[in-house]
Amino acid sequence: MSQESYVHGYTPRESVRLSDQANTLAELLHHDTLFDPGTVLEAGCGTGAQTILIAPKNPGCRFLSIDRSPDSLQAAQKAVQSRGIANVAFQQADLFKLPFDDGSFDGVFVCFVLEHLSDPAAALAELRRVLKPSGRIQCIEGDHGSWYCHPLSEFASHAVDCLVRLQADLGGDSLIGRRLYPLLVQAGFREVRVSPRMVYVDSSRPEWVEGFSKNTFNAMVEGVRDRALAAGLTDPARWDRGIADLYRATRDDGTFCYTFFKAFAAK
Ligand SMILES: C[S@@+](CC[C@H](N)C(=O)[O-])C[C@H]1O[C@@H](n2cnc3c(N)ncnc32)[C@H](O)[C@@H]1O
Repeated sequence: MSQESYVHGYTPRESVRLSDQANTLAELLHHDTLFDPGTVLEAGCGTGAQTILIAPKNPGCRFLSIDRSPDSLQAAQKAVQSRGIANVAFQQADLFKLPFDDGSFDGVFVCFVLEHLSDPAAALAELRRVLKPSGRIQCIEGDHGSWYCHPLSEFASHAVDCLVRLQADLGGDSLIGRRLYPLLVQAGFREVRVSPRMVYVDSSRPEWVEGFSKNTFNAMVEGVRDRALAAGLTDPARWDRGIADLYRATRDDGTFCYTFFKAFAAK
């Protein structure tokens, strides 16, 4: 995946969004991100938003966190160092061609990465290759088709659809959460279990309104405005109405739903 083909880009705002997303969702997604003591490969660590949550939860593990983007790796290293987290090392690598021998790791962790890949099945096969025979994988992905809000708005749905289509045009699949089970089974994993993690937001949960609805989901959709216009998927008036309606659903009488999918499997 080239820098241009990553739908969310590598801007400072995207880095803040990934961090908001990870912090708000920490308990929901990571209360059970636990690995047996050993070595864990984190594939596509980005700026380390998940790394800083999962490494301290697993003090008996040594993490090797890889990404293609040197800038993201540098930011991740800074995030880990500034928190005094000592069980993580970083390396630049392509997860389709991992520079590791077969059976090198006890665990693999991958979060919000498969959705951006043109061939997630090949990526999972490569991740499986580097697992020890007793190794286990955990994958977390979203599924934009699981989003809905109140008040219902065809404009808001249109804006979200633009993101889904743009990501598909770049070879990704933002509806991948529902595919985790078949993808893992097809890649040869055993004991595949998928756990849906539903986010429900209303104004009685102000930290979720800010951290998830506004700063994670709406920020993600807003971030593709220029690409959506350039691709001819929308026009400024329709787009802006869609974004306004997404924020409308974050007001006192609005609600928001989204489901993440977390998969556990054995090699
Ligand atoms: C949406 S970010 C997720 C980052 C992090 N896992 C998180 O949840 O905050 C996707 C990351 O996958 C990385 N990535 C995409 N394709 C890759 C590849 N072929 N090899 C390694 N990293 C890749 C991107 O550089 C980006 O940092």
